[in-house]
Amino acid sequence: ERKSLYKVAQLGGDGIGPEVIDAGVQVIHAAAKKLGTFSVDFNELDWSSDRYKKTGSYVPDDYIEVLKKHDAIFFGAVGAPDVPDHISLWGLRLAICQPHMYANVRRTRILPGTESPLRNCQPGDLDWCIVRENSEGEYAGHGGRSHRGLEHEVGTEVTIFTRTGIRRIARYAFQLAQSRPRKLLTYVTKSNAMRNGMVLWDEVINEVAKEFPDVTMDHMLVDAMTVRMTLHPKSLDTILATNLHADILSDLAAALAGSIGVAPTANIDPSRTMPSMFEPIHGSAFDITGMGLANPVATFWTACEMLDWLGEHEAAKLIMAATEQTCRDGVKTKDLGGSAGTKEVTDAVIQRIMAA
Ligand code: NAI
Ligand code: MG
Repeated sequence: ERKSLYKVAQLGGDGIGPEVIDAGVQVIHAAAKKLGTFSVDFNELDWSSDRYKKTGSYVPDDYIEVLKKHDAIFFGAVGAPDVPDHISLWGLRLAICQPHMYANVRRTRILPGTESPLRNCQPGDLDWCIVRENSEGEYAGHGGRSHRGLEHEVGTEVTIFTRTGIRRIARYAFQLAQSRPRKLLTYVTKSNAMRNGMVLWDEVINEVAKEFPDVTMDHMLVDAMTVRMTLHPKSLDTILATNLHADILSDLAAALAGSIGVAPTANIDPSRTMPSMFEPIHGSAFDITGMGLANPVATFWTACEMLDWLGEHEAAKLIMAATEQTCRDGVKTKDLGGSAGTKEVTDAVIQRIMAA
């Protein structure tokens, strides 16, 4: 049997990003060693706010060419206390993801040994997959500022929705819903107050729905969706929303499942033209940087998402099972009510991988 070799761009970024990505790399190497069927060659890139502060740019000019040489991108977080967030986000994360990685997929579940802040919500009651449109919408970057500093200064942020953009993300979300046991898709808009682009979403999604007769679909307005997620988490499975709406709903989802420190994200280019990018949902967390406290579980789950995308399903299952067992055994960081640090959790997961 031939051993597969993958080339992955390792982009820790800022703050706790490099800490959790290092832990993720160790865990992936452990799974590769245990299974012996594949290996991963990580190429560490120093693209970060430090690079920006030294050179004026987060990435080199030929960064797309550099990334294209990899099968996937394993990303930590970007954001520094002394760089405005819109500079860091556009300088690194959005520069990489837009426009190819149009599907942002965020799974949420209550892991064993983890408590939801919702009373009566047990593991199994909350198992969602949020699909976020990742290339246009409210974060298209369209807009401008005029009359700077004057009393009548104006700033516009133009939301861009295209039939092509909506159709491709809708098809992706329906396929994903179809692959899950419940075959249930809830799509979220705000087509009462926003009567142009959001109505286009409703129309295009209803057209695409005809291609997937076996998927049950329903529709929520985004404000009502926050209520349903909080009060009736069991009634949801796959969720589709715009860039802005899903950004907010997925943070809510992560918090309802117990902690932002466990939630993964996949930025997918379904055409596989560009390598897809995998990252924990959380940011660079300056408040705990360098203290060894960061929860690496979000990054382990992210590693599973990446391995699944690469076709290494057995490795993904192995890492996820070891991570869940570690949580069940109570080896948890502070954000989950435990007292372990990043290293203890990482070592515990590796030990369970090797013992599996
Ligand atoms: P954050 O996610 O970095 O932190 C929010 C809170 O959650 C903090 O109290 C932090 O300590 C805690 N937290 C986050 N991840 C954790 C983990 N793995 N283990 C334990 N606790 C964890 O969000 P915040 O504070 O709003 O943003 C900090 C910086 O990160 C900003 O510059 C922001 O722009 C950036 N950011 C970057 C993202 C990305 O690169 N994808 C996503 C979100 C924020
Ligand atoms: Mg967010």
